[in-house]
Amino acid sequence: MTQHPIHGRIDGPIVMIGFGSIGRGTLPLIERHFQFDTSKLTVIDPSDADRHLLEKHGVTFIHQAVTKENYKHLLGPLLTAGPGQGFCVNLSVDTSSLDIMKYCREIGALYIDTVVEPWVGFYFDKSKGPESRSNYALRETVLAERRANPGGTTAVSCCGANPGMVSWFVKQALVNLKNDLGVKGDEPTTREGWAKLAQTLGVKGIHIAERDTQRARDPKPRKMFVNTWSVEGFVSEGLQPAELGWGTHEKWMPENGRTHAEGCGAAIYLLQPGANTRVRSWTPTAQAQYGFLVTHNESISIADYLTVRDANGKAVYRPTCHYAYHPCDDAVLSLHEMFGQEGVRQPEWKILDENEIVDGIDELGVLLYGHGKNAYWYGSQLSIEETRMIAPYQNATGLQVSSAVLAGMVWALENPNAGIVEADDLDYKRCLEVQMPYLGPVVGHYTDWTPLTNRPGLFPEDIDTSDPWQFRNVLVRN
Ligand SMILES: NC(=O)c1ccc[n+]([C@@H]2O[C@H](COP(=O)([O-])OP(=O)(O)OC[C@H]3O[C@@H](n4cnc5c(N)ncnc54)[C@H](O)[C@@H]3O)[C@@H](O)[C@H]2O)c1
Repeated sequence: MTQHPIHGRIDGPIVMIGFGSIGRGTLPLIERHFQFDTSKLTVIDPSDADRHLLEKHGVTFIHQAVTKENYKHLLGPLLTAGPGQGFCVNLSVDTSSLDIMKYCREIGALYIDTVVEPWVGFYFDKSKGPESRSNYALRETVLAERRANPGGTTAVSCCGANPGMVSWFVKQALVNLKNDLGVKGDEPTTREGWAKLAQTLGVKGIHIAERDTQRARDPKPRKMFVNTWSVEGFVSEGLQPAELGWGTHEKWMPENGRTHAEGCGAAIYLLQPGANTRVRSWTPTAQAQYGFLVTHNESISIADYLTVRDANGKAVYRPTCHYAYHPCDDAVLSLHEMFGQEGVRQPEWKILDENEIVDGIDELGVLLYGHGKNAYWYGSQLSIEETRMIAPYQNATGLQVSSAVLAGMVWALENPNAGIVEADDLDYKRCLEVQMPYLGPVVGHYTDWTPLTNRPGLFPEDIDTSDPWQFRNVLVRN
């Protein structure tokens, strides 16, 4: 039998909010890698679809929604039922990450989530303009809280696969690139050091470049949104404006591009939904491919983290950073169907579980481009077959996320007084050490592909031939 390393002991109560595709996959990893008292683990979810699993694992289940009205009342007694420090693992949709995180820190409980999630209703509120519905705005609320209340009990914001693990991949990829380019000097130890390294290496931008080839056993029925992870989560973020960390090398901005007057200034947004915005990108399996520029927290946090400023605070270097997501083929069809109905989601939805997928991998990595070796992809190529062998209750997409949650929990336990942190702030080596057994092959590939490869084709195109890595060339506009 495989021996799983124990990474620590959780003395206090553990409360998991949400038991969907990610919660289901995270539970067995918590059981494997931490010592804790099962009688002190509680799961809260308004859906009881997987009640049988919780019963099988002897976990207490509260069949209820966490709401703006009840969250303190519900979570307080559970998380403070010592002895030991409580740990809140938020893997739900429709609950405010910020409010729950703040409350956990007030009562001294550790906290982790995988997205800055708002209370129910936010994503589809037409009275809010696109800027207020952006991830930039959501992230700024967490940064404001960090500024207002620095230090204190650790709360890890946005620690899944992406956002999350990909921030650790960026650092590993920068180190690999540095070695391959023969650049001298020690590995950075500070934010400023990492930003300076990216600048020195000439990295113009980073795609979070993903190809999910997991194939469903049954063809997608009409009027059903099919995906390999949260359909609610994907539809919500897919209808937010497209957003990207905005690099200092960019010479052109789309006409519907907008900057932000407030906040860190690292990103722009487009007046169009991200899941209906295509970009040219590259992964090892797909080679050249279209991906969707879906907004994600890491597009902003990575660009912000890697910004070099001059003495006056002006950004003198920043990489462009955005998601280039080719979800599983059924999800591509689902998006096509949904946008054909002006973004009205199908009446039914399905998250493919590990038994409904016949084959495929989730190839998720970072493509660092524009440097002396053109472009370098570094990431995980986890297959459904391997996933089924190494961890229960999840597909390959889920395991990349749940193992990152595990890594973030280990880091939080080992650093309980670090205040509010993002994945970029964590020790990337420690996190990847915890996560690596769950990622399948983790590989680096160079490519000579650029967004101008084979262009122009049969028709004239508006391209910038002076620099292939301009967003003007990356964005699909015809
Ligand atoms: N960072 C990443 O890499 C990453 C990847 C996948 C998912 N996510 C995020 O993780 C979260 C969970 O994803 P998933 O795939 O498990 O989603 P899911 O849709 O499978 O599950 C979400 C669960 O939350 C529950 N829920 C809904 N309202 C709730 C409430 N008010 N209180 C408590 N629970 C509630 C639902 O009943 C459901 O069981 C989502 O927010 C998603 O965006 C992040």
